[in-house]
Amino acid sequence: MTRSGPDDRPRVVLGVSGGIAAYKACELLRRLTESGHDVTVVPTAAALEFVGAPTWAALSGKPVSAEVWDGVHEVPHVRLGQSADLVVVAPATADLLAKAAHGLADDLLTNTLLTARCPVVLAPAMHTEMWEHPATAANVATLRSRGVLVIEPAEGRLTGADTGKGRLPDPEEIFEVARDVLARAQGGQSAALDLAGRHVVVSAGGTRERLDPVRFLGNRSSGRQGYALARAAVARGAEVTLVAANVDLRDPAGVKVVRVESTAELRDAVLSATAGADAVVMAAAPADFRPTALSDVKIKKADDGSAPTITLRQNPDILKEISTHRARPGAVIVGFAAETGDATGGVLDLARAKLARKGCDLLVVNDVSGGAVFGSTDNEAVILGADGSAVDVPHGTKSALAHQIWDQVVARLS
Ligand code: CTP
Repeated sequence: MTRSGPDDRPRVVLGVSGGIAAYKACELLRRLTESGHDVTVVPTAAALEFVGAPTWAALSGKPVSAEVWDGVHEVPHVRLGQSADLVVVAPATADLLAKAAHGLADDLLTNTLLTARCPVVLAPAMHTEMWEHPATAANVATLRSRGVLVIEPAEGRLTGADTGKGRLPDPEEIFEVARDVLARAQGGQSAALDLAGRHVVVSAGGTRERLDPVRFLGNRSSGRQGYALARAAVARGAEVTLVAANVDLRDPAGVKVVRVESTAELRDAVLSATAGADAVVMAAAPADFRPTALSDVKIKKADDGSAPTITLRQNPDILKEISTHRARPGAVIVGFAAETGDATGGVLDLARAKLARKGCDLLVVNDVSGGAVFGSTDNEAVILGADGSAVDVPHGTKSALAHQIWDQVVARLS
């Protein structure tokens, strides 16, 4: 149910609990307000030790309180949760997760979490030891089993000099998850977390095949569609491994990113992630060929004006391999095909033949006759199924196409 305020802006409660990453929530708040959301910030008392109430009030344009005792005549401890379209807590500390899992309600934020009937997104941030502690793991499992979207923390630098899992993901990326969850809820997709408990693998980007220490053979794939697929899967509750080949984009929130360069490395990473995966989407553009020899010194120009001859050999076809030798029965395997059509057939004829040749369950077909897809933020496609189905996805964002692809995957998983 949508409970937008009188001004039609979706109502978001931004909870902030007491961790050093609280300062990053300022950026998340700015993104939310600037994109047309009515945001009420509910910090905990500990969060106010890190970032003061005036900052939250100024950025949200609303009074801010951590306690249930302010403005009691408006019953804020019930009203805020009841009237919210989305509650997002960033950072969510180990303490906040424990309270939420056990239904404690000793301040305004925990009361709001108990009264909210809208989607709830929690972005934990803490030290690795706290994240890995069995108590926290059990609390996260409890919350997920109740339909709360708990975003996996990122790996990297923590508060001190130490590094590990527990960092708050980029606020811009938490914003993307929040916006996606809200859009799906408002679009009536109440089974929003239909990938919860599923592990999906997505490959993205274009591989590079080295010629010498400074040169490579590559392609124009930006990785945007793969990244959109990873983001969309997180917003639907999946555990996501993203194998990224030479992509220059921000890590999506809640995603394990494995970086690779060549098709051989991409193959190794995909094969090892695929063993436990419910779905694999090969959105990457692996180079089909690699030089037969890698020069360990830079190849020099010859004085006589001649050019070197580069001989190539074929790379393994990863999609075909994982489709033919299925690591997990019932897993859904998705390929992409960028086609232009040729003398032997139109785009869809070639795509049907490719679907059969590769042996995957779904093939997402882009007509690239105009070269329009590479690097753009939009896409249009036809999703062909091995069962003979064909779903037309009209021109739209890569995120919209990503969700249509997951719709098809979910239908086949269940
Ligand atoms: N792919 C793969 N391994 C390769 C090449 C491609 O897994 N070595 C995957 C891509 O990720 C994509 C799909 O296969 O999902 C289609 O790739 P494409 O290059 O269009 O297929 P090819 O079999 O190479 O066909 P073509 O001869 O038309 O290039």
